[in-house]
Amino acid sequence: MATRRSSDTRRTGGDNGAGVGTVVKVSLGARSYPIHVGAGLLSDTGRLVGELEPAGRVVVITNALVRSLYGARLERSLRGIPGRAKIEVLEMPDGERFKNLRTVSNLYDAVLDGGGARDTLIVALGGGVVGDVAGFVASTVLRGIRFVQVPTTLLAQVDSSVGGKTGVNTAHGKNLIGAFHQPSLVVADTAVLSTLPDREYRAGLAEVVKKGVIMSKPLFNLLDRNSVAVGARDAGLMTEVVARCCKLKAHVVAKDETDAGLRATLNFGHTFGHAVEKVSKYRRFLHGEAVAMGMVAAARLSLERGLCSEGDVERLISLLKRLGLQTAIPADLDRKALVDAIAFDKKAAGGEVRFILTKGIGSCCEEKLAPRAALRALG
Ligand code: NAD
Ligand code: GLY
Repeated sequence: MATRRSSDTRRTGGDNGAGVGTVVKVSLGARSYPIHVGAGLLSDTGRLVGELEPAGRVVVITNALVRSLYGARLERSLRGIPGRAKIEVLEMPDGERFKNLRTVSNLYDAVLDGGGARDTLIVALGGGVVGDVAGFVASTVLRGIRFVQVPTTLLAQVDSSVGGKTGVNTAHGKNLIGAFHQPSLVVADTAVLSTLPDREYRAGLAEVVKKGVIMSKPLFNLLDRNSVAVGARDAGLMTEVVARCCKLKAHVVAKDETDAGLRATLNFGHTFGHAVEKVSKYRRFLHGEAVAMGMVAAARLSLERGLCSEGDVERLISLLKRLGLQTAIPADLDRKALVDAIAFDKKAAGGEVRFILTKGIGSCCEEKLAPRAALRALG
């Protein structure tokens, strides 16, 4: 699949002593927006939001944990916005199980109760759960108001805050209700990664490795050469890594905003990973942990199909292991149940499943195969 870049990147320096970072542009015509990446940018968020000229309220949606860590710094920065913008903070409960319509409904009431919803700008401060929920609220209040993503997990910084996928889970499954609604601005402060629990950080790294495997050999090589510093959350290196990931995702989103083709490549490892999550009842592994195992299975299937070399599979396994991620699907997860889960994946059509496979580090393709083709790759 194409690997040319259509987004642009430039360096930026804060003039208030806040972080120095990189700006990546998501090119979507009138809905284009910048992603600012750098250590310390939280203190610069007020200035960046101020450039959007919010006319009325700025409503921060977050959870109690993230608020306790970063809420005061963000609020202080937002209070520096010139003009009359009123700052409010709404808390939602923490956790995937609260990513639902009840939470959305409570947030609708709070946003509408304040009056002047049309002039409200929403700021999502948190991980992918907060970002997806706050984005969905913004996409539907008055058929769409502006919002800003301030992602605080690695997964949210390299993936979920970019590209405008918003939504919630229902009893029928994950992310089944949602909308495409692009943010007006993304501010990724890489210094906040220092407080992430170790498992969450490592799970986020799986999504970083994924981008290297499917579309950027230079990114994969950077991770491979610097796996110790990446694992240790070296601030300068992580700014470089997050910015590269955002640039890659910006390129994909600019080419395929609504998931018609190229964007599906971001699902590398996810067909297997979702099956692992489902068969282990969503309790045992974080999403990124399941994706790490899924990527290895997808790479094995790629090898079976003659698309990549044994060396590519070994390099992937070696890097994931050095980043502290499990690579083998546990033997106690029933293989037939995994194949059945793959067959019911939402990407299945006409009895075949759309697998994203690697053609060697830095390149990928899609193949439609019968679900049972996955069996041997499960290990
Ligand atoms: P999360 O939002 O649940 O965050 C994980 C935990 O870390 C939470 O307890 C959170 O409060 C805490 N946390 C957040 N920032 C922190 C920080 N800096 N320090 C300490 N703790 C912090 O999980 P996630 O992995 O960020 O996001 C997962 C969600 O993202 C899923 O719902 C998934 O469906 C969604 N997602 C969306 C997209 C998209 O394109 N919209 C893409 C991938 C994933
Ligand atoms: N995380 C997959 C996508 O944004 O399309």
